Amino acid sequence: MKKKYLLGAIAVVVIGLLAACGQTDHSTANGEEKKTIVMGTSADFPPFETRDNNGEIIGFDIELAKQVTKELGYELEIKDMNFDGLIGALQADTVDFVASGMSATEKRKQSVDFSAEYHRSGEMFVTLKDSKIKSMEDLNGAKVGVQLGTIQEEGAKKLAESTKIDIKTLNKVPELIQELKSKRIDAVYLDRTVAEGYVSELGLAAFKDESSGTPGMAMAFPKDSEIVDKFSKVIEEMKKNGELEKLEKKWLEKE
Ligand code: ARG
Repeated sequence: MKKKYLLGAIAVVVIGLLAACGQTDHSTANGEEKKTIVMGTSADFPPFETRDNNGEIIGFDIELAKQVTKELGYELEIKDMNFDGLIGALQADTVDFVASGMSATEKRKQSVDFSAEYHRSGEMFVTLKDSKIKSMEDLNGAKVGVQLGTIQEEGAKKLAESTKIDIKTLNKVPELIQELKSKRIDAVYLDRTVAEGYVSELGLAAFKDESSGTPGMAMAFPKDSEIVDKFSKVIEEMKKNGELEKLEKKWLEKE
């Protein structure tokens, strides 16, 4: 019995040391002790990640990431980049993890590891209110905007095999919405929760993509990262103790 405890204790210390080593690259230069962990995101995706009027990055993912990393004893640093660059940033170790409304697809699982899922959304097509396009069947001949590197980009490409659509790919979601408002495109293909936000805020219209059965959103980590399980554990705890629901109420539910 005693030996078991001792081994356990040694393991804890060793794992702790290893974890500390892994994170030192990112600690701040001013010599303070708290481990800094770097998160990558594409802050163009309200209500998950966006910038407020002061330029500060806020949103559901941001608050979730803050809570999880705080629970795990980290200081959180956020790097804002294009969505398309996030997986590469994980692979190049320039960020420790990603929270960016990223859907945990099988394809991405070949390059990164995912935490437990924290939100499930589905997809929608956003149009102008007076648009004649009211369902998937009306998309024939339409110009459809998607964000580079997203599952919607892939989905649109697949759709183009059966429906005649023109795909316009851009880096940032607000640019897509701008294109829609100035009628350079007819529809924007987006995660439902994000689409609904734009619809209610800007008086747009939208319809569901009934065909898509996409996986939920999760945080992403470099392959074989040692911290992914710790993150998942905290996320699962937050599901049980109602903290996640609180965040959903605050950020994702429209009045
Ligand atoms: N859920 C979609 C995907 O994983 C889109 C995510 C876009 N996220 C963002 N922050 N712009 O491909």
